[in-house]
Amino acid sequence: MSRRRVLSGIQPTGAGKHLGNYLGAVRHWAAMQDEFECFFFVADLHSLTITPDPADLRSQSRRVVAELLAMGIDPSRSALFAQSHIAEHPELAWVLSCLTGFGEASRMTQFKEKGSGNVGLFNYPILQAADILLYQPHAVPVGEDQRQHLELTRDLGQRFNNRYGDTFTVPDPYVQQSADRIKDLQEPTAKMSTSKGGPGVLWVIEDDKQTLKKIRSAVTDTGREVSYDVAGKPGISNLLTIMSVATDTPVAALVEQYDGKGYGDFKADVAEAVIAMFAPVRTRFDELIADPGYLDQVLREGATTARAVASATMTTVRDRIGLLAPT
Ligand code: TRP
Repeated sequence: MSRRRVLSGIQPTGAGKHLGNYLGAVRHWAAMQDEFECFFFVADLHSLTITPDPADLRSQSRRVVAELLAMGIDPSRSALFAQSHIAEHPELAWVLSCLTGFGEASRMTQFKEKGSGNVGLFNYPILQAADILLYQPHAVPVGEDQRQHLELTRDLGQRFNNRYGDTFTVPDPYVQQSADRIKDLQEPTAKMSTSKGGPGVLWVIEDDKQTLKKIRSAVTDTGREVSYDVAGKPGISNLLTIMSVATDTPVAALVEQYDGKGYGDFKADVAEAVIAMFAPVRTRFDELIADPGYLDQVLREGATTARAVASATMTTVRDRIGLLAPT
């Protein structure tokens, strides 16, 4: 029996992954490889919507690949590729755009929130639908902010199937939310977030020294007891949550362990635990980023796997919609 397939994409121009993303998503992607046939790609065409500096786009794209590999994506089991290496993505996006209402695309909240922008930004969710439908995945693991784009993907897949006959798998959204419980270190009532950045966000890839500094300067609460009370002691509670996941120890056991000890000792231990948790990832990242030839090879091999699936889907699509086959 063939395994169920999952697919997800990451834009190379955002910041890297933070602790909350790591716990909420990326760590699960690594685990998913045991169960599913996985396709992960660098959404470099989507990044063009912000017209990045070319040199930055190139280096950021390699950085994403190194990050994913360091966090456990295994290229011998999963296809890891660059969106731009598979010409079928923009091709299918064009076909789907001809099935999308102007009003329908205008209702996408991410576009509306930006207020204005280029046509690429307007078409962004249609390209995303193409990214997905090309590979016939059963599930698409994404964050909550992508829910509406997945709904559009499902609508477009269904619309195509109704009109031209069954062609696409209509994927289930697989919204990952568990990361929300990790809060910003400086504002522990708000979730840790990429767009906020700053000293309250712990990046998976950063210097150990920065991690230490951020945890040492984390906002704590009045009082001196290490106890778990989200409403009354959000800062300490957040650090307890972080320590709990980093050491795989229940919060209650930690509270007992720190009975009678002060915030200073506790924070030093939290920093040590987070640094230890990320140590293998950071070491591996440093090795990988120093070896662009290897990263390119991973992308080349990933593209070979991806292209086989994408071109088969696209051949069917062209035929169904009535394009002449090239002779
Ligand atoms: N829009 C997604 C994000 O910003 C990235 C993305 C592009 C994506 N294409 C995709 C995610 C296809 C899942 C599937 O997070």
